[in-house]
Amino acid sequence: MYQFAMADGQDKPALYRDLAAALEAVTAGEPDPVANMANAAALLWEYLPDLNWAGFYRAQGRELVLGPFQGKAACIRIPFGKGVCGTAAESGRAQCVADVHAFPGHIACDAASASELVVPVKRDGRVIAVIDLDSPTPNRFDAEDVAGITALAVILAGRIGE
Ligand code: SME
Repeated sequence: MYQFAMADGQDKPALYRDLAAALEAVTAGEPDPVANMANAAALLWEYLPDLNWAGFYRAQGRELVLGPFQGKAACIRIPFGKGVCGTAAESGRAQCVADVHAFPGHIACDAASASELVVPVKRDGRVIAVIDLDSPTPNRFDAEDVAGITALAVILAGRIGE
């Protein structure tokens, strides 16, 4: 059993430092990418407030395919360039979307989603997966979330490849 003590009233950078340490702990020495993505999704869900979906899409050729996640059952395949996830995969850049309904081509998997953050996981400059967070609250994510999730993506880059 893993149990992580979460301090009350932490600021976001501190929360993300703790989350990164927890992710390091549960993935260190484990080569299986599914196991590591599954534990990462569980930690995102446990640590980050106000989410309705947290998980992974994995790059397979020019398509993203659903990976381990927490939340409602979701769209399985997203072409590169489509939706928020496909835009992050195509551009290699994080997409922080304050209002998903205003994002051209947004793919609505859960009608409750109002804002979204998608961060690519890159290995040797190539996008191998994206981390996708959805929130029912508009404008839920900011630059501190982008920085925090990007740090997690760096940890995962070496731990979720084939
Ligand atoms: N909204 C995403 C699709 C994935 S779900 O949010 C889980 C998108 O537009 O790419």
